[in-house]
This record gives sequence, C-alpha cells and structure tokens, in this order.
Amino acid sequence: MVKTTVSVIKADVGSVAGHTCPTREMIEYARKKLSEARDSKLIKSYHVYSVGDDIGLVMTHERGEDDPEVHKLAWDIFREITEKVSKPLKLYAAGQDLLKNAFSGNIKGMGPGVAELEFEERSSDPIIVFAADKTSPAAWNLILYRIFADPSNTAGLVIDPILHDGFIFEVMDLIEGKVVRLKTPEETYDLLSLIGTINRYVISRVYRAKDNEPAASASTTRLSYIAGKYVGKDDPVLIVRAQAGFPAVGEILSAFAIPHLVPGWMRGSHYGPLMPVSFRKKQNVISYFDGPPRVVAMGWQISNGILVGVEGEEPVDLFEDPVWEYSRELATKVAIYMRTMGEIMPARIEIEEMEYTTLPKVMEKLKGRFIQVGK
Ligand code: F6R
Ligand code: MG
Ligand code: MG
Repeated sequence: MVKTTVSVIKADVGSVAGHTCPTREMIEYARKKLSEARDSKLIKSYHVYSVGDDIGLVMTHERGEDDPEVHKLAWDIFREITEKVSKPLKLYAAGQDLLKNAFSGNIKGMGPGVAELEFEERSSDPIIVFAADKTSPAAWNLILYRIFADPSNTAGLVIDPILHDGFIFEVMDLIEGKVVRLKTPEETYDLLSLIGTINRYVISRVYRAKDNEPAASASTTRLSYIAGKYVGKDDPVLIVRAQAGFPAVGEILSAFAIPHLVPGWMRGSHYGPLMPVSFRKKQNVISYFDGPPRVVAMGWQISNGILVGVEGEEPVDLFEDPVWEYSRELATKVAIYMRTMGEIMPARIEIEEMEYTTLPKVMEKLKGRFIQVGK
C-alpha cells in the first residue's frame, strides 16, 4: 500500500513592520509555485500559512520523508521569495532563515524548520498541524507530554484500550545530536527527567506503543547551533494524528488550554506564555513585546493523499472557538506579569542561551573592570 507523507517546511524570509508578518505577495508567490508542483505531480496537495513573521508550506505527497525533490522545492520557493519579493521591497530581515547558499539534498540544517510524517492512511485520518512563532522546539515538550502521557489531559489513555498501551517518545539531545526512545507509562519519570531540560532535550517524534504507528512529528532545528550566533528563534512546527486509536482532536487541543511559559519572545531572550490564536481572526500577527509567543492549529482530513479542509485545502481554524478567548486572556495576563520583572531571571532566559544573543557583546566591555576579592 502506498504511504502518504505530510511535509511541513517553514522559514522566516522577511517581514513587514519589523518581525511582525510576511506580505500577501510572499504568500501568493509560494501558492503559485506549489500549484505548479501539484500540476507536475511532485506533490498531491498543499496549503500555505503564516504565523508571526514565518511562512509555512504544508505539502502532501507519496515520496516519503527527506525527499530531495520536495525539500528542494521548499528551498527554491524561500530563495525566490527572498530574491524576488523581500529584498527588492527591503522587507525586514529578508532571507533571515536561509543560512546556507547551495542546496545539498536535504533542507534540514540549512535554516528552515521541517516536520514530516509518513504513514499508511487509515479508513479516515484526521491530522492537526501546529505552527508557533517567537519560540523554539522546546515549546512542544510539555504539550506532547500532556497529549500522549498525561491522563489528566487525555482521557483516552485511561479509557481507550489502544491508547492504554501507551506511547514511545523519541527524545533528541540537541547538543550531542543523539536520540533516545522511552516508553510511557512505564518510563514516564525517565522521560520527564530529560524533557524538563527544554533547551537540550526535545521530543522529536511519538509512536503508538501497540503497533509502532507514527503519531506525531516535530521540527527540531536550532538556528543558533547552525549559525553559531543568534539568528531569530526556531519557531517550531508539529504534526499530530488524531482519533480512532490516537488522542481525540479535543484531547490534543486541551493541552494548550493553560498557556505554559516557553523561551523566545523579544530578542529570543525571554520566557513568555504560548498563546493559542485564531488565524481566521488574524490573531497570528505578533505585537506586544514582539509577542507573546503564539501558536495556530490547522485541522484536516488526509484522504487518498490529499488535504481535505473546510473548503478545498483550507484548514479548520481549531483555536477559533470562543473557549480559547479565556486562554488568550490568561496568556495576556501572564505576559504582562512576566514583563514586570524586566531583564531579571527567570523572566530573561538562562545565560547559556544568552550566549547566542547580542548580550555577550555588551558584557565584553565590563571584563577588565572586575577586581579579584578575598583570597
Ligand atoms: C525574536 C525576534 C525579535 C527581534 C527583535 C530585535 O525572535 O525576531 O524579537 O529579536 O525585534 O530585532 P533586531 O535586532 O532585528 O532589531
Ligand atoms: Mg523575523
Ligand atoms: Mg518567526
């Protein structure tokens, strides 16, 4: 049986009014190129979205994960948008996430964020793609734990016999470049011992324990580790399969109800609440202190390799429901509260992470003024 692959590839290649949002022309350009790729049968369907200053390409195809042609398509689109739209209009940080020059077969490690999930379609296959701005892959650790391992979030872990067998989490060590697989519920405490250290250990994939079926896939790019300096946060994406032996859509979304603190926000240097927002209400444009960090949720059915949304490929806006207004209000309150602490930790991120910002340059000039005490 032919498998379907969902590829989500995103990048910040320039924006209007600082790091706020891309132009309509940039989005249209990406749509035109993806439409041509569909006509030439490289991909089967697509959707282009934006969140904050990021543009995301959601593509379905039968070419598997890490396909050089699909990755090159995304790379070329981001390059062309940079050259043809962002640079001529002097958009802000034009081509920001394109850290390499020549494409070398896989877009991973070149700047753009990637999440891909290949699976055999069930008789009906709902998926959700989450896309966040002004944060990093660390943002998904608590969310994926809540969805796939926390029975107070996901009732199915208790009630549904398939979910009851648990899930396998693949955790990536971003510094060593290694992965480890841990099975919940048996190894829940081991999992938590790693994923609490959000800047080093991130959940990259989740599988259903019963049959190893892929359940979720997240982007894990750390731009600063590629570039060796601060080049914006990594604004992660996440693909999750839902229903009939996976957590229900409503269980998956519940994980976002109480906004948790994530690193990112202004200058990639602060902890702020992850606010679930509606893209139809245009809440995906950041403003307060370049944030707060936010996330959109797009829902589809995957049917014979094609994205089926509410109208063609247009996804359901899963954070549009009035219930999320409470979460947004809470996030706003937490954001304003966190700002009362200014540049004092823990409102500002840890010193190890600040290494990749412009702070070391400021601290450099104080070096010679320290006087040894005691001895
Ligand atoms: C965070 C982000 C912004 C910028 C900030 C300063 O990921 O992109 O918060 O860091 O607006 O930007 P520059 O240094 O370009 O003026
Ligand atoms: Mg930007
Ligand atoms: Mg961004």
